Amino acid sequence: MAAATERVADRIRRADRPFSGVSPERLAPEIAAIDLERPLHDHAAALDELERVYLRDAVYFHHPRYLAHLNCPVVIPALLGEAVLSAVNSSLDTWDQSAGGTLIERRLIEWTAGRIGFGPAADGVFTSGGTQSNLHALLLAREEAHAIAGAVPSRLRVITSEAGHFSVRKAANLLGLGPDAVVAVETDGERRMRPAALARELDRCRRAGLVVMAVVATAGTTDFGSIDPLPEIASLCRSAGGWLHVDAAYGCGLLVSRRRRHLLAGIERADSVTVDFHKSFFQPVSSSALLVRDGAVLRHAAHHADYLNPRWMAERGIPNQVDKSLQTTRRFDALKLWLTLRVMGPDAVGELFDEVVDRAAASYALVAADPRFEVVTRSPLSTLVFRYLPPDGPGRKLADDANLYAREALAASGEAVVAGTTVDGRHYLKFTLLNPETTLDDVAHVLDLLAGHAQRYVDDLAPVADHSEVTHVHS
Ligand SMILES: Cc1ncc(COP(=O)(O)O)c(C=O)c1O
Repeated sequence: MAAATERVADRIRRADRPFSGVSPERLAPEIAAIDLERPLHDHAAALDELERVYLRDAVYFHHPRYLAHLNCPVVIPALLGEAVLSAVNSSLDTWDQSAGGTLIERRLIEWTAGRIGFGPAADGVFTSGGTQSNLHALLLAREEAHAIAGAVPSRLRVITSEAGHFSVRKAANLLGLGPDAVVAVETDGERRMRPAALARELDRCRRAGLVVMAVVATAGTTDFGSIDPLPEIASLCRSAGGWLHVDAAYGCGLLVSRRRRHLLAGIERADSVTVDFHKSFFQPVSSSALLVRDGAVLRHAAHHADYLNPRWMAERGIPNQVDKSLQTTRRFDALKLWLTLRVMGPDAVGELFDEVVDRAAASYALVAADPRFEVVTRSPLSTLVFRYLPPDGPGRKLADDANLYAREALAASGEAVVAGTTVDGRHYLKFTLLNPETTLDDVAHVLDLLAGHAQRYVDDLAPVADHSEVTHVHS
């Protein structure tokens, strides 16, 4: 264990780029060639082999020029928690498999609910990630809608914004709602749900005899980091009598920010909230939770098995978490957050998140002032969506292809890793800044690299026909 720790620490310390640029074609044969029937019987030899098939080419989120997805470098107390929880291997389904672990998770749920501003009836459970938390929330919302309105699944609707996360559609599918169940209402220029569009959709559903089982607001959209106007949305939900779920998978870091907590105002009026500690609390994957304002609704996911959690256990007040969870055997992920809070405290975590949000604001100013790029919105969190604009009035396809090429060429060089997305049908590049060690110089350097790759595509690689269709996108 000590040797492996030293090896990984050394790798991370020495990494001069976030990625080796390896292709699947080059790595696949090396992994395929390993004979799993013939063990090495030696830890050091297995680690040497691992160096070759994984550690050498892994994508290192700790590197300051990893700017791609919603992945964070991790804090050391959480790593300590990870080692302890795996070694002890508690399972957080029942008291007789976890003892104090159950109580520690409960304290953290209580603490998070307090940060959200929920009252004493709140409850929740740790989950594997935002996708599961959103599914769980919508399951509870569906059961509540059924209990209140007795609606059949095909008449149920979930309203979110066009910038909401795709796990909402996935959840609706899994919950047996029809193909039209999720309605995405329009966003404003800052990519926040338009309350007027929500009001119109609520009204349309009511007139059509449809039951809105949930409105899903997003506090930190995946692409833009935008935060839907929670107070207005909460008021509309209250008037319409619908369940409000806030997907704060990304924005939950604001719960511990001393400077930006106000951006989440209104979250306390939600019925349920998703938080992903593995996004903005610098925790290793996985660490997420679903919180509900009224803990009684968690009963919708409860089932009893004589061998595991018979009813008499609950009647005798023996605490268990399996009655609240979609999972049975479940990792003690809460321990990572516990040790983080006990060693560093919430303010220190919030300060790390504030730092990356500050850096994103400075990066926005940098890109907005740079004529080589156009930028979409100014994120209240830590994303930046932008694109390279070839200087002499490029064709639409040429600009798209140049940006796609730049992203791939950059990843293949391993110098930096950035993400991409489409906005209104056009290809854009995306930074998600979650590493406090990323400096503005790193950002400027990556912008130069991207501009270089994109312009090389325009000058040397694009098929000649691409240059013909000239439309001035600079306007
Ligand atoms: C807003 C939002 N919700 C939910 C999720 C899903 O979270 P997870 O990847 O932890 O399942 C994501 C992931 O990026 C997200 O950005």
